Amino acid sequence: MLRRLHPDQPGSFAFTPDNQAWARAQITKYPEGRQASAIIPLLWRAQEQEGWLTRAAIEHVAKMLDMAYIRALEVATFYFMFQLQPVGSVAHIQICGTTSCMICGAEDLVSVCKEKIAKRPHMLSPDGKFSWEEVECLGACANAPMAQIGKDYYEDLTAESFAKLLDAMAAGEVPVPGPQNGRFASEPLGGVTTLKDYTGEAQNGSVALASRLGDTLKRIDGSEVPLITPWQGVPDPKPVPSAVVKAKEAKPADDMPVDETGVSKQEAPEKSNAKPDAVAKGAEEIGIKPELLTEARGTADDLKLIKGVGPKLEALLHRLGVFHYWQIASWGTDEVAWVDEHLEGFKGRVSRDDWVSQAKILAAGGETGFSSRQ
Ligand code: FES
Repeated sequence: MLRRLHPDQPGSFAFTPDNQAWARAQITKYPEGRQASAIIPLLWRAQEQEGWLTRAAIEHVAKMLDMAYIRALEVATFYFMFQLQPVGSVAHIQICGTTSCMICGAEDLVSVCKEKIAKRPHMLSPDGKFSWEEVECLGACANAPMAQIGKDYYEDLTAESFAKLLDAMAAGEVPVPGPQNGRFASEPLGGVTTLKDYTGEAQNGSVALASRLGDTLKRIDGSEVPLITPWQGVPDPKPVPSAVVKAKEAKPADDMPVDETGVSKQEAPEKSNAKPDAVAKGAEEIGIKPELLTEARGTADDLKLIKGVGPKLEALLHRLGVFHYWQIASWGTDEVAWVDEHLEGFKGRVSRDDWVSQAKILAAGGETGFSSRQ
């Protein structure tokens, strides 16, 4: 397929300060003279920032990497991951049209795109929320037909289930990725015939991770975790959850020597490496401190649109350093535990009212049942 730059281009491009710092840190991953190796992550970051890859962004990245513009252009036009024209503000849908998916109904999915989004690929829907294209095999052939939407795969689709997914996304929801026909993963449709004693988790590993990250449709905006570049002295702000979980669960064996802090000698090295943000209550760790801000980035979100948050609780969250939906949406179990513990007078409210799920919808520009009534 011929991939050309879009005829309408903005005049300039600049990374946001957060993204600029991130990009500069990326470059330090590579030895002197090999900075061009950072081309793909930098182009990707530019695309995440703007929604699509503009000529000005490609030029900017080429300059940062001291590359000839044509070299950067070759990369941008080669990989389908780079969108060379504006895409839907909610999602760009990539339908796999290769053999397995085609045999199993990809054409039906394309028909849904034509009907619900736009007649031709790479055209925006009338409301600007969606765009679509057909792509080559995405490597999920056992779950055909499928589509990549945002950062995740939606598999085992039918025209009906796919249309419902689009409707849900248009309404601000983020449906759970993965098989949409009840399959756990890519086992036979009639059920597993071997390895029958799989753990019986509700979601397969990929779907569980996607659910935990909650970034299926969210674009990277620089507000996430800073790049882990310890050689630059930039700390990893996300303590390793497994270490904390271990610390939580580890109980000194009866015959294990225990020091005056109640920590067994065997645990001590791990404890001493624990991130300072892990809250200690007696000998027990209570969660992980999430990313907190000294002030809102721009205008603070109306946290009272989260069910369970009133004016007092909103003021308390501001004092803690929570101003935005995206902050709450990024919390995992450990961060929820930390905040729940620090809501003086309101302990446990985060998990009780499932703020994280609500915040994910609000952060994506959607409405919850509660917020729509305010
Ligand atoms: S043929 Fe569609 S994912 Fe491989």
